[in-house]
Amino acid sequence: MSIRNLDDLLAEGVSGRRVLVRADLNVPLDKQTGEITDDGRIRAVLPTLSALVSAGAKVVVCSHLGRPKGAPDPQFSLRPVAGRLGELLDAPVHFAEDTVGDSARSTVDALADGQVALLENLRFNKGETSKDDAERGAFADQLATFGDAYVDDAFGAVHRKHASVYDVPARLPHVAGRLVLREVEVLSKLTGQPERPYVVVLGGSKVSDKLAVIEALLPTVDRLLIGGGMCFTFLKAQGHEVGTSLLEKEMVETCGNLIERSGGKIMLPVDVVAADAFAPDAAHDTVPADGIPSHRVGLDIGPETVAGFAAALSQAKTIFWNGPMGVFEMPAFAAGTRGVAEAVAKADAFSVVGGGDSAAAVRALGLDESSFGHISTGGGASLEYLEGKTLPGIAALEK
Ligand code: 3PG
Ligand code: MG
Repeated sequence: MSIRNLDDLLAEGVSGRRVLVRADLNVPLDKQTGEITDDGRIRAVLPTLSALVSAGAKVVVCSHLGRPKGAPDPQFSLRPVAGRLGELLDAPVHFAEDTVGDSARSTVDALADGQVALLENLRFNKGETSKDDAERGAFADQLATFGDAYVDDAFGAVHRKHASVYDVPARLPHVAGRLVLREVEVLSKLTGQPERPYVVVLGGSKVSDKLAVIEALLPTVDRLLIGGGMCFTFLKAQGHEVGTSLLEKEMVETCGNLIERSGGKIMLPVDVVAADAFAPDAAHDTVPADGIPSHRVGLDIGPETVAGFAAALSQAKTIFWNGPMGVFEMPAFAAGTRGVAEAVAKADAFSVVGGGDSAAAVRALGLDESSFGHISTGGGASLEYLEGKTLPGIAALEK
């Protein structure tokens, strides 16, 4: 990668300099309690932050959380993240109540060498996500006043053309942080010459979200295993009835074409767990994929499918997995995701888990993270990387 990285910045010396770090601290929060349910993204940025702290930088961290609408919204405050980040760094994290206002200014000004501040949610400001270059630029101007240098370690957001990702690096000396560097190194192995067989598992709810990546991957992969909510549109394209399962009607024909063009590479479920309702305690049974009762909703792949997917994965030398196989948050419908995750972990292959949801699933199911080659912090970002798209955040670092 023709990009300067953190080591280059450290070699210049950062002691006493203010370093603005864009992180992706967009962690899942419990809807009732507001507590952080998975701190993987916070832990992922620690190597960069610790290195800067040890080198005596004044570290100013910024991030988005959720999708607030360009104005302050307490449910999306980064305050709980500041607390957790402080625990993990074992040092106080000075929290600014706003992103570029008086609180941010005084918080940054008060930083001593080796101290860390976290600004409030970037998306409390319209300029962050604006499509208007001038509006984004004006916000980037304000943000850039908090740093003498900029580090992008927000891999999960590099596919967004947002002020903090795209416009700030045009205004400050900029480098890639350790996480961004590692993510790009790993993913470039998959787009380069992956060791074969190369098996990809895709899940998640919508085919329309994954269409571009399926198109891009089909020529490259040896097998493409499809589960999750999106499998029902494929099953429909095979001529099966899917009851009340998730179905994207306008995608059925496209899915049919993909199956035809895949030359047998696409593997679909042969059985599914079908339930009376989308509820944790709903009555449910395993049924063949061509026998889903009309009143039932498919909420997981079935055991025979898991066995077939596991067999394909056991042959693989390279694996990429994105998206849960079922509604894993409900124990009754978690077996498919667990089974696939275990098969990925067991395979004697270089395995990459892509995405917020699948990464969270690995941890929520209590699997050993070290049995995977790499757990990406980027969902959309890793998919767009594999599609071969230009990622605005990476492009900005290259300049
Ligand atoms: C993510 O969770 O996918 C990243 O943090 C990006 O968030 P976004 O999809 O709301 O831009
Ligand atoms: Mg997303």
